[in-house]
Amino acid sequence: MDLDARFHAAVAIAEEAATLALHYFERRSELSVELKGLQDHVTKADREVETLIRRKLLERFPEDAQLGEEQGGGGSNDTKALWVIDPIDGTTNFVRGLPHWGVCIAFCKDEEPEIGVIVAPVLREKYVARRTRGALCNDRALAVSKTQKLSEAVIGFGSNKKSPHEPYVEVLGKLLGEGIEYRRLGCASMNLAAVASGKLDAFFEAKLSPWDALAGQLIVREAGGRTNDYLADDGLLKGNSVLASNFPLYDALAAAFGVWTEY
Ligand code: IPD
Ligand code: CA
Repeated sequence: MDLDARFHAAVAIAEEAATLALHYFERRSELSVELKGLQDHVTKADREVETLIRRKLLERFPEDAQLGEEQGGGGSNDTKALWVIDPIDGTTNFVRGLPHWGVCIAFCKDEEPEIGVIVAPVLREKYVARRTRGALCNDRALAVSKTQKLSEAVIGFGSNKKSPHEPYVEVLGKLLGEGIEYRRLGCASMNLAAVASGKLDAFFEAKLSPWDALAGQLIVREAGGRTNDYLADDGLLKGNSVLASNFPLYDALAAAFGVWTEY
């Protein structure tokens, strides 16, 4: 299987998709916003950007399977060669005019994430990673932070309406008591990109779909960070908790959040 070709295609297609998404972002007052669930939005931009990505990937790699947020796919027989697509991660930010949103494309071979790409066009940032080959932002090598103590840490902490909020509030209270500082960017992939860049020391969200998580998790690992075993319990197709952190803080955060073993 030609992973080089897939990597270059993923980067080029994500950039083209981000340009289309930015076109809609700049005209967002004309978009009608539909609700898929409580505080879960979708627009024509999400659908058209996913259609573009799927069409381009299908032209180049007709034998590969695809799983995407808006159009589904990804059965249990599809995991040999699987593209995982979020046309716009951070749709709520997108429709409100906030800058943290991006196009995410991941590729998994035999259930192993091999390629991760996130393009955030408002921030002019392109994050890429290949398994075992490091991670880059706009062609500069990424490295996670070196923060050692919870009392000096700034972490990203996400929540959504798919998980109960009580444990979120409880853990947040505990960590605030330890002196931690936190941010809520409203876009899982951009939180993971921030961990990979060392801007945040860690990120946690109790339940994330594979299209929100896979590209960013690989980018964190390739920037020298640690992630939990997201692929456990069929996480690749069904989603799971996400903890991504620098090394020194991982164990304390894993205990606080009650996540499973490292990947
Ligand atoms: C959402 C965002 C949000 C996170 C949700 C995701 P979407 O993705 O990443 O930050 O809290 O869990 O579903 O719906 O905007 O692609
Ligand atoms: Ca999305």
